[in-house]
Amino acid sequence: MKKKWWHDSVVYQVYPRSFKDSNNDGIGDLNGIISKLDYLKELGIDVIWLSPVYKSPNVDNGYDISDYCDIMDEFGTLDDMKTLIDEATKRDIKIIMDLVVNHTSDEHIWFKEARKSKKNKYRDFYIWRDAVNGSIPNDLKSNFGGSAWTLDTETNQYYLHLHDKRQPDLNWENPELRKEIYNMMKFWLDLGIKGFRMDVIDLIGKEPDKLITQNGPKLHDYIQEMNRETFGKYDVLTVGETWGATPEIGKLYSDPKRNELSMVFQFEVISLDKQQGKRKWDLAPLDFIAFKESFRKWQVELYEDGWNSLFGNNHDLPRMVSRWGNDKEYRVESAKMLATMLHMQKGTPYIYQGEEIGMTNVKFPSIEYYNDIEGLNMYNERISLGYSEDEVMKSLYAKGRDNARTPMQWDSSENGGFSTKKPWLMVNDNYTDINVERDIKAPWSIFAYYQKLIRLRKSEEVIKYGKFELLLKDHREAFVYTRSYNGENLFVVCNFYGNNISIDLSELKDILGLGDNSELSLNEDVLIANYSNSPKLTNKLALRPYETIVYKYNNLANFNIK
Ligand code: NOJ
Repeated sequence: MKKKWWHDSVVYQVYPRSFKDSNNDGIGDLNGIISKLDYLKELGIDVIWLSPVYKSPNVDNGYDISDYCDIMDEFGTLDDMKTLIDEATKRDIKIIMDLVVNHTSDEHIWFKEARKSKKNKYRDFYIWRDAVNGSIPNDLKSNFGGSAWTLDTETNQYYLHLHDKRQPDLNWENPELRKEIYNMMKFWLDLGIKGFRMDVIDLIGKEPDKLITQNGPKLHDYIQEMNRETFGKYDVLTVGETWGATPEIGKLYSDPKRNELSMVFQFEVISLDKQQGKRKWDLAPLDFIAFKESFRKWQVELYEDGWNSLFGNNHDLPRMVSRWGNDKEYRVESAKMLATMLHMQKGTPYIYQGEEIGMTNVKFPSIEYYNDIEGLNMYNERISLGYSEDEVMKSLYAKGRDNARTPMQWDSSENGGFSTKKPWLMVNDNYTDINVERDIKAPWSIFAYYQKLIRLRKSEEVIKYGKFELLLKDHREAFVYTRSYNGENLFVVCNFYGNNISIDLSELKDILGLGDNSELSLNEDVLIANYSNSPKLTNKLALRPYETIVYKYNNLANFNIK
């Protein structure tokens, strides 16, 4: 595999609205980010993924863009953006931007023009259909609930929107539209950004008349064209958001021979704590065995001709320490365990702001405090369908997107040091306990642990390129895997739950071809662990709640059978 700079990079996602407010209007901004670049450097990350900063009416917090080549007023100016790129570059940090080109805002000039008349030059930039039997063209649903079609009374046709009705979908079949998008991408690349995170990119090849939204037939043609016309000429990182990807599809995007993207975000494990065939709001316990199997499959299938992204958090997901860990008595241990489980795999890790200090989900007092359009739509829909308030709030607490969007907790001063003014979204009231200032000082902190994970990725080739093997796949509490590369091996053990457990490793002897003796002991180093006094690796390994240990050994001959 040809080596790329992003093979040992770690990306940090900034959600600008919630990161740091520099002018005290209650909303995060670009100067706020600039003021925290040294902090990010100290953490050790290489790349910042900036959630959208473009002009937007903020129906979906910036994922509804009204001008692709300018900055949202609350966030600053284009000059501030240039300063951010410069200042980041000085610190050897690259900036990648969110590219939201499945849809625009209804306030984008193209849509304003398009809706004026059927003959307008921009009409075909969007997707219009006549009514069928006096009603919607078909049953396509919006990801935010309800029909994906809205009637535009001016011209009496429906337009398609796979998200909110104020986010009309672009028509990628139109070559003129594609040209405009490519020019816009070049504009940003020439300003010095080092790549794109591509919002719901697997929707751009849709064929709405056939009810096809994800993975449409022309999707990969469009991405190859985009690569040829824009970023293919630059040495950048591109990552597609692809909810519909299987490993086979993941390879189509990320196999370097195909000239598409560097990697994709796939969401298979994200759907393993909901009821089958239902929405994310219909909660179910995590299927842990399927969870491990899903990681295994992606690690193994993309080993040679593809590349994975590794993440458990982003601005759309609940905090992973609350979701898969224990954000109360084992918050620190479980945050570190989850980080280890992800960071020891092959791929590019993504850290979402606040993850590095173990920020948690939030429970606001009532629905009035919530902001996210998806959550609010779900609330209204379900209450009108007769669900109880308790049930709906339970779903929102567990899965709502506002969980990830509460302001970054910098210190224990008012509003967590995010702003002196009341923030646009309430700060999680645990900010006096969980904040950057405190975590940085604490010995044994989550922050220090992430620093170490990042350093290890850079120093250990086996973390970058090692082959992955899942062990004890049916174990109901432990996540155990090995990585191996050029005679170096990692043995990664994670107790995924809050019990003391003892795991029987005797069967490993067979897996490793070591015969049938009773005691296994390894001449190993502990690379990283979340408790002190890590046990020696023996046949029976006792693990404390959420304990994780990464053993490194040089080759299998180091296994001594006593
Ligand atoms: C995915 C983004 O991550 C999410 O925040 C947004 O609401 C939708 N795409 C629509 O752009």
